Amino acid sequence: PANEHAALYDLYAEAAKLYHHMLMNTSAGQDALDYLHQRGLDDDTLDLFHLGYAPKEPLLLPFFQERGVDYQLLRQSELFIENEDGSLRDRFVNRVLFTIRNSNGQVIAFSGRSLTHDEQAKYINSPESVLFNKSQELFNFDLAKNPIKRSKDIILFEGFMDVIAAFSAGVQNGVASMGTSLTVEQVKKISRIANRILIAYDGDAAGQAATKRAIDLINQVAPALSIQIINLPDGLDPDEYLRKYGKQEFTNAVTHGLETPVTFAMRYLKQGRNLANEAEKLGYLDEVLKMLATVDNPLERDLQVNQLAQEFNVGATSLHEQLKHLIQQMP
Ligand code: GTP
Ligand code: MN
Ligand code: MN
Ligand code: MN
Ligand code: MN
Repeated sequence: PANEHAALYDLYAEAAKLYHHMLMNTSAGQDALDYLHQRGLDDDTLDLFHLGYAPKEPLLLPFFQERGVDYQLLRQSELFIENEDGSLRDRFVNRVLFTIRNSNGQVIAFSGRSLTHDEQAKYINSPESVLFNKSQELFNFDLAKNPIKRSKDIILFEGFMDVIAAFSAGVQNGVASMGTSLTVEQVKKISRIANRILIAYDGDAAGQAATKRAIDLINQVAPALSIQIINLPDGLDPDEYLRKYGKQEFTNAVTHGLETPVTFAMRYLKQGRNLANEAEKLGYLDEVLKMLATVDNPLERDLQVNQLAQEFNVGATSLHEQLKHLIQQMP
């Protein structure tokens, strides 16, 4: 039934409100508020995304216990960690909180960012719960839904801050896979409302490797979804890029700085390969042709084959033959 988990949804809504209040209106939250302001977020953005602060002192547990909230519900919520003696304590302590909402805008989880550099984990996420099935959710899907339906474009980021910074810069069709690699369910969800996906993962090595994996997965799960890659220079992430170069440059990169998966693969797959070596060169060409085989447009395939032939001084005819062979092998 639709309201089966109504009490849990209410609990999360209450928790989000309380965390947001701690951030916006208390001296305990002042450092966290300064931190977020320094990162370029204004109060309207903090409100819109329901950002919050979990203080050093216990907050949710006393709050809910004073109101007589059922203990089993508190346990089930995953907002608390169970001590060895069975008692509970607040899960999030001294962290800035990003609110994770489902497609309907209901709060279903949090992610807490540390304010210092000495913590073990930069981010701590809520574990899965009856409300939060990680592999199904995309951060900001609820707010991005309508902009995506209008433009048929979705932008896929790595992190919360990337989505929020882009949103404040007017790019409102962004979602994040929240660090974990993209899942089949997320790709299906995306392909139901978008015709094109722009991948804007971080410019560092991890982000580029994740981009390659994402492209392969999308080609497998949703071959009709057109893919482009937003290639940011200097190993920056989209949020850092925005702070450094500003809105105009960022929107430029999002609209004009796009790479096709093949161009991306040609660049990416060169890394760590010695292309003077015959075997490695063949391996490289094979990988690039595999990516080319997923391209529907024959003209684009032709252009790329000719480019490859020229760059590697091989016959375009043999490349075409190998490509045909690969296409026939595809499911
Ligand atoms: P900022 O440093 O706040 O700008 O974060 P970021 O989004 O740039 O972080 P990063 O590129 O390192 O990671 C991208 C995403 O991966 C984050 O938004 C998180 O969702 C996730 N992530 C990063 N670090 C951790 C971690 O230590 N634990 C977990 N569970 N997730 C993480
Ligand atoms: Mn407010
Ligand atoms: Mn990253
Ligand atoms: Mn990042
Ligand atoms: Mn970042």
